[in-house]
Amino acid sequence: MRPRPSRSLAAAAASLLLVSGAAVRADASGGRDPAAARVEALLKRMTLDEKIGQMTQAERQNVTADDITRYRLGSLLSGGGSVPTPNTAASWADMYDGYQRAALATPRRIPLIYGVDAVHGHNNVYGATIFPHNIGLGATRDPRLVRDIGRATAEEVAGTGVDWNFAPCLCVARNDRWGRTYESFGEVPELPAQMSTVIDGLQDGRPSILATAKHYVGDGGTTGGKDQGDTQLSEAELRRIHLAPFRAAVRRGVGSVMVSYSSWNGVKLHGHKYLITDVLKKELRFSGLVVSDYNGIDQIDGQPGFTPAEVRTAVNAGIDMFMVPAEWKRFIETLRAEVQAGRVPMARIDDANRRILTQKVRLGLFERPFTDRRYTPTVGSAEHRALARQAVAKSQVLLKNDGALPLDRRGGKIFVAGKSADDIGVQSGGWTITWQGSPGNITPGTTILQGIRQTAGKGSTVTYDKEGDGIDRSYKAAVAVVGELPYAEFLGDRPAGMGLDAEDLATLAKLRASGVPVVVVLVSGRPLDIAPQLPGWNALLASWLPGTEGRGVADVLFGVTRPTGKLPVTWMRSADQQPINVGDGKRPLFPFGYGLSYRR
Ligand code: GLC
Repeated sequence: MRPRPSRSLAAAAASLLLVSGAAVRADASGGRDPAAARVEALLKRMTLDEKIGQMTQAERQNVTADDITRYRLGSLLSGGGSVPTPNTAASWADMYDGYQRAALATPRRIPLIYGVDAVHGHNNVYGATIFPHNIGLGATRDPRLVRDIGRATAEEVAGTGVDWNFAPCLCVARNDRWGRTYESFGEVPELPAQMSTVIDGLQDGRPSILATAKHYVGDGGTTGGKDQGDTQLSEAELRRIHLAPFRAAVRRGVGSVMVSYSSWNGVKLHGHKYLITDVLKKELRFSGLVVSDYNGIDQIDGQPGFTPAEVRTAVNAGIDMFMVPAEWKRFIETLRAEVQAGRVPMARIDDANRRILTQKVRLGLFERPFTDRRYTPTVGSAEHRALARQAVAKSQVLLKNDGALPLDRRGGKIFVAGKSADDIGVQSGGWTITWQGSPGNITPGTTILQGIRQTAGKGSTVTYDKEGDGIDRSYKAAVAVVGELPYAEFLGDRPAGMGLDAEDLATLAKLRASGVPVVVVLVSGRPLDIAPQLPGWNALLASWLPGTEGRGVADVLFGVTRPTGKLPVTWMRSADQQPINVGDGKRPLFPFGYGLSYRR
Protein backbone atom coordinates (compact mmCIF):
# COMPACT_ATOMS: atom_id res chain seq x y z
CA MET A 1 0.00 0.00 0.00
CA ARG A 2 1.40 3.37 -0.92
CA PRO A 3 0.98 5.89 1.91
CA ARG A 4 0.03 9.33 0.69
CA PRO A 5 -1.05 12.25 2.87
CA SER A 6 -4.31 13.67 1.64
CA ARG A 7 -3.23 16.38 -0.78
CA SER A 8 -6.02 18.67 0.16
CA LEU A 9 -4.81 18.53 3.76
CA ALA A 10 -1.17 18.97 2.79
CA ALA A 11 -2.09 21.71 0.35
CA ALA A 12 -4.13 23.52 3.01
CA ALA A 13 -1.48 23.15 5.69
CA ALA A 14 1.52 23.87 3.56
CA SER A 15 2.49 26.77 1.34
CA LEU A 16 4.84 26.66 -1.62
CA LEU A 17 7.79 29.05 -1.37
CA LEU A 18 9.85 29.49 -4.52
CA VAL A 19 13.26 30.20 -3.05
CA SER A 20 16.14 30.79 -5.49
CA GLY A 21 14.56 28.40 -7.98
CA ALA A 22 14.26 25.61 -5.46
CA ALA A 23 10.68 24.75 -4.65
CA VAL A 24 10.65 24.46 -0.88
CA ARG A 25 7.40 23.33 0.69
CA ALA A 26 7.18 24.63 4.28
CA ASP A 27 4.67 22.92 6.50
CA ALA A 28 2.51 24.79 9.00
CA SER A 29 5.29 24.66 11.59
CA GLY A 30 7.64 26.31 9.04
CA GLY A 31 9.83 23.16 8.90
CA ARG A 32 11.00 21.79 5.54
CA ASP A 33 8.66 19.35 3.92
CA PRO A 34 10.50 16.01 4.12
CA ALA A 35 9.56 15.29 0.53
CA ALA A 36 11.25 18.47 -0.69
CA ALA A 37 14.36 17.78 1.34
CA ARG A 38 14.54 14.28 -0.03
CA VAL A 39 14.12 15.48 -3.60
CA GLU A 40 16.83 18.12 -3.19
CA ALA A 41 19.24 15.56 -1.80
CA LEU A 42 18.57 13.21 -4.72
CA LEU A 43 18.82 15.99 -7.28
CA LYS A 44 22.27 16.94 -6.05
CA ARG A 45 23.54 13.44 -6.81
CA MET A 46 21.98 13.07 -10.26
CA THR A 47 23.86 13.40 -13.55
CA LEU A 48 22.47 15.30 -16.55
CA ASP A 49 21.64 12.02 -18.27
CA GLU A 50 19.73 10.82 -15.21
CA LYS A 51 17.77 14.08 -15.12
CA ILE A 52 16.92 13.93 -18.81
CA GLY A 53 15.91 10.28 -18.42
CA GLN A 54 13.42 11.31 -15.73
CA MET A 55 11.80 13.73 -18.19
CA THR A 56 11.34 11.04 -20.83
CA GLN A 57 8.16 8.94 -21.16
CA ALA A 58 8.33 6.12 -23.73
CA GLU A 59 5.57 3.81 -24.95
CA ARG A 60 5.98 0.29 -23.57
CA GLN A 61 6.01 -1.35 -26.98
CA ASN A 62 9.12 0.59 -27.95
CA VAL A 63 11.39 -0.26 -25.02
CA THR A 64 13.10 -3.27 -23.48
CA ALA A 65 13.89 -3.69 -19.82
CA ASP A 66 17.54 -3.02 -20.66
CA ASP A 67 16.58 0.30 -22.31
CA ILE A 68 14.84 1.41 -19.12
CA THR A 69 17.97 0.73 -17.09
CA ARG A 70 20.47 1.99 -19.63
CA TYR A 71 18.69 5.27 -20.45
CA ARG A 72 17.44 5.87 -16.89
CA LEU A 73 13.88 6.22 -18.21
CA GLY A 74 11.60 7.93 -15.67
CA SER A 75 8.28 6.88 -17.12
CA LEU A 76 6.43 4.56 -19.47
CA LEU A 77 2.91 4.65 -20.81
CA SER A 78 0.42 2.33 -22.41
CA GLY A 79 -1.23 4.16 -25.27
CA GLY A 80 -4.89 3.23 -25.83
CA GLY A 81 -5.04 -0.53 -26.40
CA SER A 82 -1.34 -1.15 -25.66
CA VAL A 83 -1.79 -4.19 -23.43
CA PRO A 84 0.16 -7.26 -22.27
CA THR A 85 -0.75 -10.75 -23.42
CA PRO A 86 -2.91 -12.07 -21.89
CA ASN A 87 -4.77 -8.83 -21.17
CA THR A 88 -5.60 -9.65 -17.55
CA ALA A 89 -5.10 -7.68 -14.35
CA ALA A 90 -2.49 -10.16 -13.10
CA SER A 91 -0.61 -9.98 -16.39
CA TRP A 92 -0.59 -6.16 -16.21
CA ALA A 93 0.80 -6.35 -12.67
CA ASP A 94 3.54 -8.74 -13.78
CA MET A 95 4.40 -6.47 -16.71
CA TYR A 96 4.53 -3.37 -14.49
CA ASP A 97 6.71 -5.08 -11.88
CA GLY A 98 9.10 -6.22 -14.59
CA TYR A 99 9.58 -2.69 -15.87
CA GLN A 100 9.93 -1.41 -12.30
CA ARG A 101 12.71 -3.90 -11.55
CA ALA A 102 14.58 -2.54 -14.56
CA ALA A 103 14.18 1.03 -13.31
CA LEU A 104 15.45 0.05 -9.85
CA ALA A 105 18.54 -1.51 -11.40
CA THR A 106 19.94 2.00 -12.01
CA PRO A 107 22.54 3.64 -9.73
CA ARG A 108 20.03 6.06 -8.23
CA ARG A 109 17.28 3.39 -7.99
CA ILE A 110 14.61 5.94 -8.95
CA PRO A 111 11.30 4.10 -9.55
CA LEU A 112 9.49 4.71 -12.81
CA ILE A 113 5.94 6.00 -13.02
CA TYR A 114 3.59 4.28 -15.46
CA GLY A 115 0.71 6.12 -17.15
CA VAL A 116 -2.53 4.95 -18.80
CA ASP A 117 -5.80 6.49 -19.93
CA ALA A 118 -8.29 5.12 -17.42
CA VAL A 119 -10.88 7.67 -18.50
CA HIS A 120 -14.01 5.67 -17.66
CA GLY A 121 -12.63 2.91 -15.46
CA HIS A 122 -9.44 1.00 -16.20
CA ASN A 123 -10.67 0.76 -19.75
CA ASN A 124 -7.65 -0.92 -21.38
CA VAL A 125 -7.99 -3.99 -19.17
CA TYR A 126 -10.27 -6.88 -20.15
CA GLY A 127 -12.76 -7.47 -17.34
CA ALA A 128 -12.40 -4.05 -15.75
CA THR A 129 -15.45 -2.07 -14.72
CA ILE A 130 -16.32 0.41 -17.47
CA PHE A 131 -18.13 3.46 -16.08
CA PRO A 132 -20.18 5.95 -18.11
CA HIS A 133 -18.11 8.42 -20.08
CA ASN A 134 -17.85 11.92 -18.63
CA ILE A 135 -20.77 13.43 -20.57
CA GLY A 136 -23.09 10.98 -18.78
CA LEU A 137 -21.49 11.72 -15.42
CA GLY A 138 -22.07 15.41 -16.06
CA ALA A 139 -25.78 14.59 -16.48
CA THR A 140 -25.85 13.11 -12.95
CA ARG A 141 -24.91 16.47 -11.38
CA ASP A 142 -23.45 14.31 -8.55
CA PRO A 143 -19.85 15.26 -7.58
CA ARG A 144 -19.81 12.72 -4.74
CA LEU A 145 -20.72 9.89 -7.09
CA VAL A 146 -17.93 11.00 -9.44
CA ARG A 147 -15.46 11.05 -6.54
CA ASP A 148 -16.49 7.49 -5.66
CA ILE A 149 -15.93 6.45 -9.28
CA GLY A 150 -12.45 7.96 -9.01
CA ARG A 151 -11.83 5.86 -5.90
CA ALA A 152 -13.00 2.65 -7.57
CA THR A 153 -10.87 3.45 -10.61
CA ALA A 154 -7.83 4.06 -8.40
CA GLU A 155 -8.26 0.60 -6.85
CA GLU A 156 -8.52 -1.15 -10.22
CA VAL A 157 -5.60 0.80 -11.69
CA ALA A 158 -3.39 0.24 -8.62
CA GLY A 159 -4.30 -3.47 -8.70
CA THR A 160 -2.50 -3.69 -12.04
CA GLY A 161 0.55 -1.82 -10.74
CA VAL A 162 -0.11 1.32 -12.76
CA ASP A 163 0.29 4.55 -10.77
CA TRP A 164 -0.63 7.42 -13.15
CA ASN A 165 -3.97 8.08 -14.79
CA PHE A 166 -4.20 10.55 -17.68
CA ALA A 167 -7.59 11.67 -16.39
CA PRO A 168 -9.84 13.57 -15.82
CA CYS A 169 -10.41 15.49 -18.99
CA LEU A 170 -11.64 18.86 -17.71
CA CYS A 171 -12.41 20.08 -21.19
CA VAL A 172 -15.42 22.34 -21.74
CA ALA A 173 -17.05 21.06 -24.94
CA ARG A 174 -18.42 24.07 -26.78
CA ASN A 175 -19.11 22.51 -30.20
CA ASP A 176 -20.69 19.03 -30.27
CA ARG A 177 -19.07 18.32 -33.63
CA TRP A 178 -15.88 17.69 -31.60
CA GLY A 179 -14.95 13.99 -31.44
CA ARG A 180 -14.07 14.33 -27.73
CA THR A 181 -17.39 15.86 -26.62
CA TYR A 182 -18.15 12.71 -24.61
CA GLU A 183 -14.92 13.20 -22.62
CA SER A 184 -16.34 16.48 -21.31
CA PHE A 185 -18.51 16.77 -18.20
CA GLY A 186 -20.39 19.62 -19.88
CA GLU A 187 -20.48 22.82 -21.90
CA VAL A 188 -20.11 25.26 -19.00
CA PRO A 189 -16.96 25.50 -16.84
CA GLU A 190 -18.92 24.95 -13.63
CA LEU A 191 -19.64 21.30 -14.52
CA PRO A 192 -16.04 20.07 -15.04
CA ALA A 193 -15.05 22.21 -12.05
CA GLN A 194 -17.68 20.51 -9.87
CA MET A 195 -16.77 17.06 -11.16
CA SER A 196 -13.07 17.56 -10.47
CA THR A 197 -13.92 15.63 -7.30
CA VAL A 198 -12.77 12.63 -9.33
CA ILE A 199 -9.24 13.88 -8.57
CA ASP A 200 -9.84 13.40 -4.84
CA GLY A 201 -11.07 9.88 -5.56
CA LEU A 202 -7.99 9.07 -7.62
CA GLN A 203 -5.32 10.71 -5.44
CA ASP A 204 -6.52 10.93 -1.85
CA GLY A 205 -6.90 7.87 0.32
CA ARG A 206 -5.41 4.46 -0.39
CA PRO A 207 -4.38 3.39 -2.92
CA SER A 208 -3.37 6.68 -4.41
CA ILE A 209 -2.65 7.19 -8.09
CA LEU A 210 -1.54 10.34 -9.84
CA ALA A 211 -4.36 12.21 -11.58
CA THR A 212 -3.99 14.43 -14.65
CA ALA A 213 -6.08 17.47 -15.44
CA LYS A 214 -6.24 17.64 -19.24
CA HIS A 215 -5.94 19.08 -21.84
CA TYR A 216 -4.50 22.42 -20.85
CA VAL A 217 -6.06 24.72 -22.11
CA GLY A 218 -9.01 25.32 -24.43
CA ASP A 219 -9.14 21.91 -26.14
CA GLY A 220 -12.97 22.00 -26.20
CA GLY A 221 -13.22 25.47 -27.68
CA THR A 222 -11.69 25.06 -31.13
CA THR A 223 -13.31 26.63 -34.16
CA GLY A 224 -15.76 24.19 -35.75
CA GLY A 225 -15.12 21.66 -33.00
CA LYS A 226 -12.03 20.49 -34.91
CA ASP A 227 -9.94 18.23 -32.68
CA GLN A 228 -6.42 19.65 -32.12
CA GLY A 229 -7.60 22.84 -33.87
CA ASP A 230 -7.43 26.51 -32.98
CA THR A 231 -9.30 28.13 -30.09
CA GLN A 232 -9.88 31.71 -31.19
CA LEU A 233 -10.90 33.60 -28.06
CA SER A 234 -9.89 36.68 -26.11
CA GLU A 235 -7.81 35.96 -23.04
CA ALA A 236 -10.75 36.95 -20.85
CA GLU A 237 -13.00 34.38 -22.54
CA LEU A 238 -10.31 31.70 -22.48
CA ARG A 239 -9.92 32.26 -18.75
CA ARG A 240 -13.65 32.42 -18.04
CA ILE A 241 -14.60 29.29 -19.95
CA HIS A 242 -11.58 26.99 -20.24
CA LEU A 243 -9.16 27.93 -17.46
CA ALA A 244 -11.71 27.76 -14.64
CA PRO A 245 -11.79 23.93 -14.32
CA PHE A 246 -8.01 23.89 -14.05
CA ARG A 247 -8.15 26.38 -11.17
CA ALA A 248 -10.48 23.93 -9.40
CA ALA A 249 -8.16 21.01 -10.17
CA VAL A 250 -5.08 22.84 -8.86
CA ARG A 251 -6.98 23.76 -5.70
CA ARG A 252 -7.70 20.05 -5.24
CA GLY A 253 -3.99 19.31 -5.49
CA VAL A 254 -3.98 17.57 -8.86
CA GLY A 255 -0.50 16.15 -9.34
CA SER A 256 -0.17 16.53 -13.10
CA VAL A 257 -1.52 18.55 -16.00
CA MET A 258 -1.40 17.47 -19.64
CA VAL A 259 -0.91 20.07 -22.35
CA SER A 260 -3.45 20.31 -25.18
CA TYR A 261 -2.64 19.63 -28.84
CA SER A 262 -4.79 22.63 -29.72
CA SER A 263 -3.70 26.22 -30.32
CA TRP A 264 -4.78 29.50 -28.81
CA ASN A 265 -5.19 32.21 -31.47
CA GLY A 266 -2.82 30.32 -33.75
CA VAL A 267 -0.09 29.42 -31.23
CA LYS A 268 0.30 25.77 -30.25
CA LEU A 269 -0.14 25.16 -26.52
CA HIS A 270 2.87 22.84 -26.48
CA GLY A 271 5.11 25.86 -27.01
CA HIS A 272 3.17 28.37 -24.94
CA LYS A 273 5.39 29.67 -22.15
CA TYR A 274 2.93 32.34 -21.02
CA LEU A 275 0.06 29.89 -20.46
CA ILE A 276 2.16 27.01 -19.08
CA THR A 277 4.72 28.82 -16.94
CA ASP A 278 3.31 32.27 -16.22
CA VAL A 279 -0.37 31.32 -15.83
CA LEU A 280 -0.46 27.65 -14.75
CA LYS A 281 2.75 27.38 -12.72
CA LYS A 282 3.09 30.92 -11.35
CA GLU A 283 -0.38 32.51 -11.26
CA LEU A 284 -2.30 29.34 -10.36
CA ARG A 285 0.71 28.10 -8.32
CA PHE A 286 0.55 24.60 -9.82
CA SER A 287 3.37 22.65 -8.17
CA GLY A 288 2.84 19.31 -9.90
CA LEU A 289 4.30 18.11 -13.19
CA VAL A 290 3.29 19.19 -16.68
CA VAL A 291 3.27 16.40 -19.26
CA SER A 292 3.09 16.77 -23.04
CA ASP A 293 0.49 14.93 -25.05
CA TYR A 294 1.43 11.95 -27.26
CA ASN A 295 4.02 13.33 -29.74
CA GLY A 296 2.54 16.70 -28.89
CA ILE A 297 5.85 18.56 -29.33
CA ASP A 298 5.96 17.44 -32.98
CA GLN A 299 3.10 19.84 -33.74
CA ILE A 300 4.74 23.10 -32.60
CA ASP A 301 6.20 23.96 -36.01
CA GLY A 302 3.44 22.29 -38.00
CA GLN A 303 5.84 19.82 -39.58
CA PRO A 304 6.06 16.05 -38.88
CA GLY A 305 8.49 14.93 -36.18
CA PHE A 306 10.30 17.12 -33.68
CA THR A 307 13.36 19.35 -34.16
CA PRO A 308 15.90 20.67 -31.65
CA ALA A 309 14.05 23.99 -31.80
CA GLU A 310 10.76 22.30 -30.85
CA VAL A 311 12.40 20.39 -28.01
CA ARG A 312 13.94 23.51 -26.48
CA THR A 313 10.77 25.54 -27.06
CA ALA A 314 8.63 22.96 -25.25
CA VAL A 315 11.08 22.48 -22.36
CA ASN A 316 11.58 26.21 -21.92
CA ALA A 317 7.80 26.77 -22.13
CA GLY A 318 7.53 24.73 -18.91
CA ILE A 319 6.71 21.17 -19.93
CA ASP A 320 8.41 18.77 -17.51
CA MET A 321 7.70 15.25 -18.83
CA PHE A 322 7.74 14.38 -22.54
CA MET A 323 5.44 11.74 -23.98
CA VAL A 324 7.73 10.68 -26.82
CA PRO A 325 6.39 7.16 -27.43
CA ALA A 326 8.78 6.02 -30.17
CA GLU A 327 11.43 8.69 -30.70
CA TRP A 328 12.46 8.72 -27.05
CA LYS A 329 16.18 8.04 -27.74
CA ARG A 330 16.38 10.93 -30.19
CA PHE A 331 14.57 13.12 -27.67
CA ILE A 332 17.17 12.31 -25.00
CA GLU A 333 20.07 13.04 -27.36
CA THR A 334 18.46 16.28 -28.59
CA LEU A 335 17.70 17.62 -25.14
CA ARG A 336 21.20 16.75 -23.90
CA ALA A 337 22.69 18.72 -26.82
CA GLU A 338 20.38 21.70 -26.15
CA VAL A 339 21.41 21.81 -22.47
CA GLN A 340 25.11 21.46 -23.31
CA ALA A 341 24.77 24.27 -25.87
CA GLY A 342 23.26 26.48 -23.16
CA ARG A 343 19.92 26.84 -24.97
CA VAL A 344 18.03 25.06 -22.17
CA PRO A 345 19.10 26.26 -18.71
CA MET A 346 19.98 23.71 -16.05
CA ALA A 347 17.54 25.47 -13.72
CA ARG A 348 14.70 24.40 -16.04
CA ILE A 349 15.93 20.79 -16.05
CA ASP A 350 16.12 20.86 -12.26
CA ASP A 351 12.64 22.38 -11.92
CA ALA A 352 11.22 19.62 -14.12
CA ASN A 353 13.00 16.95 -12.08
CA ARG A 354 11.85 18.46 -8.79
CA ARG A 355 8.27 18.28 -9.96
CA ILE A 356 8.58 14.73 -11.25
CA LEU A 357 10.47 13.37 -8.24
CA THR A 358 8.13 15.11 -5.79
CA GLN A 359 5.17 13.22 -7.31
CA LYS A 360 7.06 9.94 -7.09
CA VAL A 361 7.88 10.60 -3.43
CA ARG A 362 4.30 11.57 -2.65
CA LEU A 363 3.00 8.40 -4.33
CA GLY A 364 5.27 6.38 -2.02
CA LEU A 365 6.97 4.79 -5.03
CA PHE A 366 10.39 4.76 -3.38
CA GLU A 367 9.04 2.68 -0.48
CA ARG A 368 6.45 0.60 -2.38
CA PRO A 369 7.58 0.43 -6.03
CA PHE A 370 5.76 -2.80 -6.91
CA THR A 371 2.10 -3.70 -7.43
CA ASP A 372 -0.01 -3.98 -4.29
CA ARG A 373 -1.68 -7.24 -5.30
CA ARG A 374 -4.35 -6.82 -2.64
CA TYR A 375 -6.14 -4.51 -5.13
CA THR A 376 -5.87 -6.83 -8.12
CA PRO A 377 -9.16 -8.64 -7.28
CA THR A 378 -11.01 -5.31 -7.32
CA VAL A 379 -10.72 -5.23 -11.12
CA GLY A 380 -14.29 -5.68 -12.38
CA SER A 381 -15.55 -6.45 -8.86
CA ALA A 382 -19.26 -6.78 -8.09
CA GLU A 383 -18.98 -3.74 -5.81
CA HIS A 384 -17.54 -1.57 -8.57
CA ARG A 385 -20.07 -2.82 -11.10
CA ALA A 386 -22.89 -1.97 -8.70
CA LEU A 387 -21.49 1.57 -8.43
CA ALA A 388 -21.30 1.76 -12.22
CA ARG A 389 -24.91 0.57 -12.57
CA GLN A 390 -25.98 3.32 -10.16
CA ALA A 391 -24.03 5.88 -12.20
CA VAL A 392 -25.62 4.64 -15.43
CA ALA A 393 -29.12 5.06 -14.00
CA LYS A 394 -28.34 8.54 -12.68
CA SER A 395 -26.86 9.59 -16.02
CA GLN A 396 -29.98 8.83 -18.08
CA VAL A 397 -31.78 11.97 -19.30
CA LEU A 398 -35.48 11.62 -20.17
CA LEU A 399 -36.17 14.09 -22.97
CA LYS A 400 -39.65 13.05 -24.12
CA ASN A 401 -42.36 10.84 -22.67
CA ASP A 402 -46.05 10.72 -23.68
CA GLY A 403 -46.70 8.02 -21.10
CA ALA A 404 -44.97 5.15 -22.86
CA LEU A 405 -42.48 5.08 -19.97
CA PRO A 406 -42.01 3.55 -17.49
CA LEU A 407 -42.41 0.16 -19.20
CA ASP A 408 -44.87 -2.18 -17.48
CA ARG A 409 -43.23 -4.97 -15.46
CA ARG A 410 -46.53 -6.78 -14.85
CA GLY A 411 -46.55 -8.63 -18.11
CA GLY A 412 -47.03 -8.09 -21.80
CA LYS A 413 -44.82 -8.27 -24.86
CA ILE A 414 -41.88 -5.90 -25.30
CA PHE A 415 -40.05 -5.64 -28.62
CA VAL A 416 -36.42 -4.48 -28.63
CA ALA A 417 -34.56 -3.40 -31.78
CA GLY A 418 -31.51 -1.43 -32.85
CA LYS A 419 -27.81 -2.02 -33.50
CA SER A 420 -26.90 -0.58 -30.06
CA ALA A 421 -29.19 -2.80 -27.97
CA ASP A 422 -27.06 -5.90 -27.51
CA ASP A 423 -23.46 -4.73 -27.88
CA ILE A 424 -21.06 -4.04 -25.00
CA GLY A 425 -18.55 -2.39 -27.31
CA VAL A 426 -21.07 0.04 -28.75
CA GLN A 427 -22.51 1.02 -25.37
CA SER A 428 -19.00 1.61 -23.96
CA GLY A 429 -17.76 3.81 -26.78
CA GLY A 430 -14.19 4.88 -27.47
CA TRP A 431 -11.24 4.26 -25.11
CA THR A 432 -12.47 0.74 -24.35
CA ILE A 433 -10.03 -2.18 -24.69
CA THR A 434 -8.62 -0.35 -27.72
CA TRP A 435 -8.03 3.34 -28.40
CA GLN A 436 -11.01 3.70 -30.71
CA GLY A 437 -13.22 1.11 -29.02
CA SER A 438 -15.18 -1.27 -31.24
CA PRO A 439 -18.54 -3.02 -31.58
CA GLY A 440 -18.77 -6.57 -30.26
CA ASN A 441 -18.50 -8.60 -27.10
CA ILE A 442 -15.18 -6.98 -26.23
CA THR A 443 -15.30 -7.28 -22.44
CA PRO A 444 -17.60 -8.77 -19.79
CA GLY A 445 -20.70 -6.73 -18.90
CA THR A 446 -24.47 -6.44 -19.28
CA THR A 447 -25.88 -5.12 -22.53
CA ILE A 448 -28.94 -2.88 -22.49
CA LEU A 449 -30.98 -5.75 -23.93
CA GLN A 450 -29.75 -8.15 -21.25
CA GLY A 451 -30.67 -5.51 -18.68
CA ILE A 452 -34.17 -5.27 -20.12
CA ARG A 453 -34.58 -9.04 -20.03
CA GLN A 454 -33.34 -9.17 -16.40
CA THR A 455 -35.68 -6.38 -15.31
CA ALA A 456 -38.88 -7.22 -17.18
CA GLY A 457 -41.43 -8.94 -14.94
CA LYS A 458 -42.12 -12.68 -14.97
CA GLY A 459 -45.22 -12.30 -17.10
CA SER A 460 -43.37 -10.24 -19.69
CA THR A 461 -41.77 -11.51 -22.87
CA VAL A 462 -38.92 -9.66 -24.53
CA THR A 463 -38.28 -10.18 -28.24
CA TYR A 464 -35.17 -8.78 -29.95
CA ASP A 465 -34.52 -8.21 -33.60
CA LYS A 466 -31.72 -5.83 -34.58
CA GLU A 467 -33.50 -4.46 -37.64
CA GLY A 468 -37.00 -4.55 -36.12
CA ASP A 469 -38.27 -7.40 -38.26
CA GLY A 470 -41.24 -9.20 -36.71
CA ILE A 471 -42.78 -6.21 -34.95
CA ASP A 472 -46.59 -6.24 -34.89
CA ARG A 473 -49.50 -4.79 -32.93
CA SER A 474 -49.37 -7.56 -30.33
CA TYR A 475 -46.47 -5.75 -28.62
CA LYS A 476 -47.13 -3.17 -25.90
CA ALA A 477 -43.99 -1.18 -26.64
CA ALA A 478 -41.04 -1.15 -29.02
CA VAL A 479 -37.68 -0.06 -27.56
CA ALA A 480 -35.24 1.14 -30.24
CA VAL A 481 -31.66 1.35 -28.97
CA VAL A 482 -29.77 3.35 -31.60
CA GLY A 483 -26.99 5.89 -31.95
CA GLU A 484 -23.27 6.16 -32.67
CA LEU A 485 -20.60 3.51 -33.20
CA PRO A 486 -17.42 3.90 -31.10
CA TYR A 487 -14.77 6.51 -31.92
CA ALA A 488 -12.08 8.55 -30.19
CA GLU A 489 -10.41 11.93 -30.71
CA PHE A 490 -10.25 13.40 -34.22
CA LEU A 491 -11.76 10.26 -35.77
CA GLY A 492 -14.99 11.25 -34.01
CA ASP A 493 -15.17 14.78 -35.42
CA ARG A 494 -18.43 15.34 -37.34
CA PRO A 495 -17.91 18.41 -39.55
CA ALA A 496 -20.88 17.44 -41.74
CA GLY A 497 -24.19 15.87 -40.65
CA MET A 498 -24.96 14.88 -37.06
CA GLY A 499 -28.04 12.75 -37.66
CA LEU A 500 -28.75 9.05 -37.17
CA ASP A 501 -27.24 6.60 -39.67
CA ALA A 502 -29.26 4.85 -42.37
CA GLU A 503 -29.42 1.58 -40.43
CA ASP A 504 -31.02 3.25 -37.43
CA LEU A 505 -33.42 5.29 -39.57
CA ALA A 506 -34.60 2.13 -41.33
CA THR A 507 -35.13 0.32 -38.03
CA LEU A 508 -37.07 3.23 -36.59
CA ALA A 509 -39.24 3.53 -39.69
CA LYS A 510 -40.19 -0.14 -39.40
CA LEU A 511 -41.16 0.21 -35.75
CA ARG A 512 -43.07 3.42 -36.39
CA ALA A 513 -45.03 1.84 -39.23
CA SER A 514 -46.25 -0.90 -36.90
CA GLY A 515 -48.26 1.56 -34.81
CA VAL A 516 -46.66 0.23 -31.59
CA PRO A 517 -45.49 2.99 -29.17
CA VAL A 518 -41.79 3.65 -29.87
CA VAL A 519 -39.35 4.32 -27.03
CA VAL A 520 -35.96 5.50 -28.32
CA VAL A 521 -32.82 4.95 -26.24
CA LEU A 522 -30.01 7.02 -27.78
CA VAL A 523 -26.50 5.64 -27.20
CA SER A 524 -24.19 8.44 -28.31
CA GLY A 525 -21.24 10.54 -27.24
CA ARG A 526 -23.10 13.79 -27.83
CA PRO A 527 -26.47 15.25 -28.82
CA LEU A 528 -27.52 14.10 -32.32
CA ASP A 529 -29.67 15.87 -34.89
CA ILE A 530 -32.94 14.02 -34.27
CA ALA A 531 -35.55 16.81 -34.43
CA PRO A 532 -37.00 15.56 -37.76
CA GLN A 533 -37.71 12.10 -36.31
CA LEU A 534 -38.75 13.14 -32.78
CA PRO A 535 -42.48 13.69 -33.48
CA GLY A 536 -42.79 10.00 -34.38
CA TRP A 537 -41.32 8.85 -31.09
CA ASN A 538 -43.39 8.33 -27.97
CA ALA A 539 -40.40 8.64 -25.64
CA LEU A 540 -36.72 9.53 -25.85
CA LEU A 541 -34.03 8.63 -23.30
CA ALA A 542 -30.49 10.01 -23.76
CA SER A 543 -28.30 7.18 -22.52
CA TRP A 544 -24.89 8.64 -23.58
CA LEU A 545 -22.12 5.95 -23.40
CA PRO A 546 -23.07 3.91 -20.31
CA GLY A 547 -20.22 1.39 -20.25
CA THR A 548 -20.48 -2.25 -19.12
CA GLU A 549 -23.45 -1.95 -16.74
CA GLY A 550 -26.35 -1.66 -19.19
CA ARG A 551 -28.82 -2.80 -16.51
CA GLY A 552 -28.78 0.79 -15.24
CA VAL A 553 -30.59 1.82 -18.43
CA ALA A 554 -33.27 -0.82 -17.83
CA ASP A 555 -33.63 0.40 -14.24
CA VAL A 556 -34.84 3.71 -15.64
CA LEU A 557 -36.90 2.24 -18.51
CA PHE A 558 -38.96 0.19 -16.03
CA GLY A 559 -39.05 2.85 -13.32
CA VAL A 560 -36.96 0.84 -10.84
CA THR A 561 -35.05 4.12 -10.67
CA ARG A 562 -36.75 7.38 -11.59
CA PRO A 563 -34.92 9.42 -14.23
CA THR A 564 -33.10 12.37 -12.63
CA GLY A 565 -30.48 13.24 -15.24
CA LYS A 566 -30.17 16.79 -16.57
CA LEU A 567 -28.62 17.77 -19.92
CA PRO A 568 -24.93 18.73 -19.48
CA VAL A 569 -24.97 20.15 -23.00
CA THR A 570 -27.54 22.06 -25.03
CA TRP A 571 -29.40 19.83 -27.53
CA MET A 572 -29.43 21.41 -30.98
CA ARG A 573 -32.56 21.83 -33.14
CA SER A 574 -30.32 21.19 -36.12
CA ALA A 575 -26.61 20.66 -36.80
CA ASP A 576 -26.24 24.02 -38.44
CA GLN A 577 -26.86 25.62 -35.05
CA GLN A 578 -23.44 24.34 -33.82
CA PRO A 579 -21.86 25.67 -31.72
CA ILE A 580 -24.93 26.12 -29.52
CA ASN A 581 -24.53 26.71 -25.79
CA VAL A 582 -26.58 28.00 -22.90
CA GLY A 583 -26.93 31.76 -22.98
CA ASP A 584 -26.03 32.27 -26.63
CA GLY A 585 -29.56 33.32 -27.57
CA LYS A 586 -30.17 30.42 -29.99
CA ARG A 587 -33.38 28.33 -29.68
CA PRO A 588 -32.43 24.68 -28.96
CA LEU A 589 -34.54 21.53 -29.19
CA PHE A 590 -33.81 20.88 -25.50
CA PRO A 591 -32.02 23.44 -23.31
CA PHE A 592 -28.99 22.87 -21.09
CA GLY A 593 -30.22 21.45 -17.75
CA TYR A 594 -33.41 19.93 -19.24
CA GLY A 595 -34.60 16.52 -18.06
CA LEU A 596 -37.99 14.96 -17.28
CA SER A 597 -38.97 12.43 -14.66
CA TYR A 598 -41.91 10.12 -14.02
CA ARG A 599 -45.07 11.51 -12.47
CA ARG A 600 -45.50 8.65 -10.03
C1 GLC B 1 -3.91 10.92 -26.72
C2 GLC B 1 -4.82 11.93 -26.06
C3 GLC B 1 -4.59 12.07 -24.58
C4 GLC B 1 -4.05 10.78 -24.01
C5 GLC B 1 -2.69 10.51 -24.63
C6 GLC B 1 -2.10 9.17 -24.16
O1 GLC B 1 -3.60 11.34 -28.02
O2 GLC B 1 -4.88 13.23 -26.61
O3 GLC B 1 -5.85 12.43 -23.99
O4 GLC B 1 -3.92 10.89 -22.60
O5 GLC B 1 -2.74 10.54 -26.04
O6 GLC B 1 -2.86 8.11 -24.62
